[in-house]
Amino acid sequence: MSTVISVVGARPNFMKAAPVKHAFERIPSVRHLLVHTGQHYDPNMSDVFFEDLGMGRPDLYLNVGSGSHAVQTAKVMVEFERICLEERPAMVIVYGDVNSTLAAGVVAKKLNVPLAHVESGLRSYDRRMPEEINRIATDAITDLFFVTEESGRRNLMHEGIRAQDIHLVGNTMIDSLARFCASHAAPRPDGDYFVLTLHRPSNVDDPAALRRLLDAIDEGAGGMGIRFPVHPRTEAAMRASGDYDRIASNSRWRLLPPAGYSEFIQMVRAARGVITDSGGVQEETTWLGIPCLTLRESTERPSTVEVGTNHLIGVEPLMVRDAVARIAASAPAGTEQERHSVPPLWDGDAASRIARAVVRYLEQHTHS
Ligand code: UD1
Ligand code: UDP
Repeated sequence: MSTVISVVGARPNFMKAAPVKHAFERIPSVRHLLVHTGQHYDPNMSDVFFEDLGMGRPDLYLNVGSGSHAVQTAKVMVEFERICLEERPAMVIVYGDVNSTLAAGVVAKKLNVPLAHVESGLRSYDRRMPEEINRIATDAITDLFFVTEESGRRNLMHEGIRAQDIHLVGNTMIDSLARFCASHAAPRPDGDYFVLTLHRPSNVDDPAALRRLLDAIDEGAGGMGIRFPVHPRTEAAMRASGDYDRIASNSRWRLLPPAGYSEFIQMVRAARGVITDSGGVQEETTWLGIPCLTLRESTERPSTVEVGTNHLIGVEPLMVRDAVARIAASAPAGTEQERHSVPPLWDGDAASRIARAVVRYLEQHTHS
């Protein structure tokens, strides 16, 4: 029996890994272990996702916590190396673009363990984003490239990756969403509010820039409500500048703690629109057919703009205000059944394709 380790650490990893864990439960030749680095650790940034996604508990918890990029990455490496030496995995699977992704990938490869990267090949082409460095560096040492959208395959081919190592399998984050929506009825569309999420360092670390964004959103929203589950990074910045209390006293705003998965998805399903700088939320709104305004200059997920409901509007306050006002004035999206197209293979089966490809890889490489 081969041991395969999936490594997760931060909020966006959990919904990408859950379906992969479930897919390996149906494959008796693989012992799948879920390692949680502890990059995110607050109950509402971590435990709630394990519950909501039916993932049980992680098999191993590394407790690395917060720190500078170097400290956090290094701690994951030290702790994960110990796990790899004990467990001797036949493959390590990493997800997305967070520090835990890169750290675990480097450890695996330096121990000559084959590495699979789920959500490989995405590129924003903005190297000021820490995630872009994590994506490029992880893909430089990956053996099995699992790609969510066509742009990922194109980017990897440009970087010289062999076509046979690239697997366009669809999107495991959408597997989780499709499964959730199949078992939870859509809330009655209410449509008189926006959902807002912000946590990119470029948007939230400078208090003046963050204030300009929040004020532009407030102006654009007119009479509509704004539900804002606040990421811990953003909450710290808003409290330091006094903006947390100022915005909380505005009756149209609802400042909330980070929402659990079920709570968040249900909130999005009944919203008029979503305003975000998240990576994953651009994809979820595409699949749900909810208009999404992305407050960034670039996206590593172009299919959400080309095929989906995402608008990349940048961070210039007047542009933000006007884009929000346009959605506030528009008709609510139709029912989920009535909606639009989604990128190819975003069909809820990405994780089984991944599990099958991993098993094939292990069969081919164990006996050679
Ligand atoms: C990380 C990822 C980012 C991802 C985001 C998802 C990196 C480089 N960044 O950013 O790609 O989009 O997660 O949410 O990996 N904190 C808490 N409680 C927690 C976790 C964090 O209070 O459970 C606070 C700490 O003060 C910490 C700060 O949030 O210093 C930032 O956390 P960190 O994991 O370093 O980066 P994120 O901004 O969350
Ligand atoms: N999410 C959530 N609660 C929130 C905000 C986001 O459950 O309050 C979910 C969201 O549905 C998506 C994932 O978290 O599945 C995206 O993670 P995040 O935005 O933190 O990171 P990114 O995708 O930008 O790396």
